[in-house]
Amino acid sequence: MTAEAWKRLAAEHAIELIEPGMRLGLGTGSTARALVDLLGQRVKDGLDVLCVPTSEATRLQAAALGIPLTTLDETPMLDLTLDGADELDLELRLIKGGGGALLREKIVATASERMVVMADISKKVEVLGAFPLPIEVVRFGYTATRNMIEMLAADAGCTGKITLRIGRDGQPYMTDSGNYIYDCAFGRIEEPDALDEALKLIPGVVENGMFLGIADAAIIAGPNGVEVIEQDFDLVTDVV
Ligand code: A5P
Repeated sequence: MTAEAWKRLAAEHAIELIEPGMRLGLGTGSTARALVDLLGQRVKDGLDVLCVPTSEATRLQAAALGIPLTTLDETPMLDLTLDGADELDLELRLIKGGGGALLREKIVATASERMVVMADISKKVEVLGAFPLPIEVVRFGYTATRNMIEMLAADAGCTGKITLRIGRDGQPYMTDSGNYIYDCAFGRIEEPDALDEALKLIPGVVENGMFLGIADAAIIAGPNGVEVIEQDFDLVTDVV
């Protein structure tokens, strides 16, 4: 099976968590796209849900499938957010933002009672950081902000190449909120909390792609089946 098939398998398990009447956060990326496709079918079959998308791309996909949509301003508390991740460790700490939606994804996930991650096995790591950490920054003074990131990240034990993300048009990639993204190839983030705290001190940083203490569970699909990691069960893992 390919990574795409495992992503779909994870999404097929995740969709079973959805109950009628739920207010849902819909993630961004290819795994979330598979979930939204499945949800579109369920809605067509009569499932009643109300959803907040985490990106314009997901909003367009969900709208095309006839999934009822709202905003966090109209519906500020959600029951469940289902989203992908670029990396996750055994403590359910994540790196997200490969698709550029980290800010809205974090806002939506933290407005949800539960966040469940869907992933293929390649996303599971012992230490975060092999995937370059996306950091969303305001455009004003972005080079000065980059220098601050480099300095404070080094104080938190993280060094590596910091690259301004470029879009398909050759221009700096712009997020749905009109910001830029730096991708930080730190390699290993030994102390995610220390790095997170350091990045929060920088005025130009809007958010970083580490989701710490946000995910409640992960559904991970791979050659050995589907593994579920739950925060509540103190790192107990199951294969279902
Ligand atoms: C989007 O900004 C990201 O956070 C995605 O959730 C992450 O990149 C996972 O993407 P895939 O599901 O495409 O692997």
